[in-house]
Amino acid sequence: MTNAYQQAYERSLTDPEGFWAEAAKDIHWYKTWDKVLDDSRKPFYRWFTGGEVNTCYNAIDRHVKAGRGAQAAIIYDSPVTDTVKTITYDELKDQVSRFAGLLRGLGVDKGDRVLLYMPMVAEAVVAMLACARLGAVHSVVFGGFASNELATRINDAQPKVIVSASCGIETARVIPYKPLLDHAIELADHKPAHTVILQRPQVAAAMTAPRDVDWAEAAKADPADCVPVAATDPLYILYTSGTTGQPKGVVRDNGGHMVALKWTMKNVYNIEPGQVFWAASDVGWVVGHSYICYAPLLHGATTVVYEGKPVGTPDAGAFWRMISQHKITALFTAPTAFRAIKREDPNAELLGKYDMSCLKALFLAGERSDPDTIKWAQTNLKVPVVDHWWQTETGWAIAANCLGLHEFPVKPGSPTKAAPGWDLQVLDEGHHSCKPGQTGSLVVKLPLPPGTFYTLWNAEDRFFESYMAEYPGFYKTADAGMIDEDGYVYVMSRTDDIINVAGHRLSTGQMEEVLASHPDVAECAVIGVADQLKGQLPLGFICLKAGVTKSDEQVVKEAVKLVRETIGPVAAFKSCTVVKRLPKTRSGKILRGTMQKIADNQDYKMPATIDDPAILEEIDESLQSIGYSKARGEAVE
Ligand code: COA
Ligand code: AMP
Repeated sequence: MTNAYQQAYERSLTDPEGFWAEAAKDIHWYKTWDKVLDDSRKPFYRWFTGGEVNTCYNAIDRHVKAGRGAQAAIIYDSPVTDTVKTITYDELKDQVSRFAGLLRGLGVDKGDRVLLYMPMVAEAVVAMLACARLGAVHSVVFGGFASNELATRINDAQPKVIVSASCGIETARVIPYKPLLDHAIELADHKPAHTVILQRPQVAAAMTAPRDVDWAEAAKADPADCVPVAATDPLYILYTSGTTGQPKGVVRDNGGHMVALKWTMKNVYNIEPGQVFWAASDVGWVVGHSYICYAPLLHGATTVVYEGKPVGTPDAGAFWRMISQHKITALFTAPTAFRAIKREDPNAELLGKYDMSCLKALFLAGERSDPDTIKWAQTNLKVPVVDHWWQTETGWAIAANCLGLHEFPVKPGSPTKAAPGWDLQVLDEGHHSCKPGQTGSLVVKLPLPPGTFYTLWNAEDRFFESYMAEYPGFYKTADAGMIDEDGYVYVMSRTDDIINVAGHRLSTGQMEEVLASHPDVAECAVIGVADQLKGQLPLGFICLKAGVTKSDEQVVKEAVKLVRETIGPVAAFKSCTVVKRLPKTRSGKILRGTMQKIADNQDYKMPATIDDPAILEEIDESLQSIGYSKARGEAVE
C-alpha cells in the first residue's frame, strides 16, 4: 500500500500537468490557462500560460466574499514597541486597496516596480499586497542592508516609488531608515519619482516635498480595485546573493506561485484555513515573502508579523509567549533562532510558564539543522520538528516531511524526502547518477514545479549560465548532498562561495570585493567558519600592500567598518586578520577550503599542489592570535 505522499510524489512527476491543474482549482482565475505547462522555450518553462489572475484578490477579496471578513488576517506583535494589533480580512482589504490607490495616484501601474525597505510592521505586508493588487512588481530589500546595497537594487529594478518607514527597531536600538534611503537614492543612477514613508512615533523622518509622501495620505486615497494580470506576469523581484557584488534578482510569477504556495499550506504544513501560522522570519527574505505574506493569506489562515528577536525581547521565552497568546498552530523559523533560545535557557525553564497545547508542529529552514537543536526542540516542544530545505530561487520546499500527506519518521540531519513536484537527483562530477549514500551535486530535473523562479531580472543569460548550463536538463541547486537508500535527502554544503549566517544568505565573494576596494589591501580572502550560534560566520584574511605604515589593527578596523557600511550590519563581518601571504596552489588558486579547515580546527591535509607549505603555519598562527583555532568558531572580537 502506498501512502498519500508516495501517490502525490509519483503523480507530480508522471503527470505534472494533471497534478498542478488540480491544485490550481483552489485559486480564483479571471480566465483559465491555455496551457498548464508551456515547454516551448526550454529551459525557460512557464506555468499556466494564457491564464489571468490577481494575487491580491486571492489573498484578500476572495476570503471577504466567502464570509471570512471578520477573521484575523494579520496579527502584528511588536515587543520592541509594546504593541499588539489584529487586522481582519475586512480591514486588510480596506488598507490595501487604499494604499494601492495612493500608489496609483503616484503613477504606479501594472508592470511598474515598487521597492520596499521596511521593518517588520504590518504595513510591509500591506504594501506588498497593494503592489500585487495593481499588478505592480514589488522588490523588498531587507532592512539590515546598507545604502550601497539598496542603491544597487534601485539601479537594477528601476522603481517608480520606494516605500519605507522612518525607522526600524533592533531590540533596544532605533535605526533611522530615511537617512539610509536618502543616501541610497543619492548613490543610485536611477531616481524614483516618489517615496512613501511610514512615520513611526520613535523617529520622525525629514521629508522633501513633492518627492516624499507620508503613508498617512493613503487614508484619503480612493480604494483601487484588483487588476487582472497574466498568470505569467511577474509578482515580485527578490534580490539574493550571487557570487559577485551584483545580486541576483529572482523573479516570481503570479499564477504558478499562488497554486504552489496554496497547495503547500495543507500538504506540507498541514494548516487549515482559519488557523494561525507564524513564520518568524523577515519580509526581506524569501521565507517572509512566501510564508509571512502570501501562502497563509492565500489559504485564508491568519499570519503573524513579529517585530522582535527570539531572545532579549524581553527574554528567551518570547516565542513561547507568542505561541500561547496568539494560539499559533505552526511555527516556522531558522535553526539559529532555536540555538539562541537554547543558549539562554538550556533547560527550557521558561516554557513551563506558557500553555503551548495549540502548537502542532515546528518547521525549520534557511540553513542546515544540527541534530542537537532538533533534539532539543523535539524534547521540549513535544511536537513534530520538520527540517525542510529550500532556496530563494525555489520559493518553497524542495525537500520536507510533508505533514499533510504523510508523517515520516525523522532522521536528524535530513530534511526528509523530495517534495511532490521535485525530481531531485544527485550527480557526480562526470554527471552520472550517484548511488544511495554517495555525495554529489543536488540537481532537479526540469521542469521545476510552479512557484519557482523563471528568470533573473534583467539577466536571462545569467539565469541560464548560473543554474541551467552545467547540467543540461537540470536545475543546479549549488548545494552538495546525498540521498540515502530510504530516499532521505541530506544537504551538506554549498558548492559555491555562499555562506549562511544566522539563516541569512551571504556571499563571501562580495565581501572580498569590498575588502579589495580598501586602499591598503593588496589581496584578500573571506571564508565561512563554523559558529555555534549563527551556524557560520565570515572571517577575512587580508594581505597589505607594500609600504603601508598603518598598524594591522587599524587596517582591520577600517576593513570591518567598510564591509558594514557597504553591505550592511547583516553581513556580521567582525573577524578579520592580516596575513603576510595567502596559501595558493601552484596555479595561483587561493586555498579557501584549507583555510576554513584550519579555522574550524579540523584536521587539515597539506594539499599536494600548494606552492609554499610554510604559509599554512602562518595562517594557523594568525588565527590563533585572533582567538580561533583552539576555540572552534568562538571568535574573539
Ligand atoms: N535592520 C537593521 N539592522 C538589522 C536588521 C534589520 N532588519 N536585522 C539585523 N540587523 C543587524 C543586527 O542588529 C546585527 O547588528 P549588530 O552587528 O550591530 O549587532 C546585525 O545586523 C547582524 O544580525 P543577525 O545576524 O541577525 O544577528 P542578531 O544578533 O541581531 O540576531 C538571531 C541573531 C539568531 C537572534 C537572529 O538572526 C534571528 O532571530 N534569526 C532567525 C530568524 C531569521 O531571521 N531567519 C531568516 C531566514 S528564515
Ligand atoms: P536562501 O536562498 O537564503 O533561502 O538560502 C538557501 C540556502 O540555504 C540553500 O542553498 C542551502 O545551502 C541552505 N539551506 C536552506 N535550508 C536548508 C536546510 N533545511 N538544510 C540545509 N541547508 C539549507
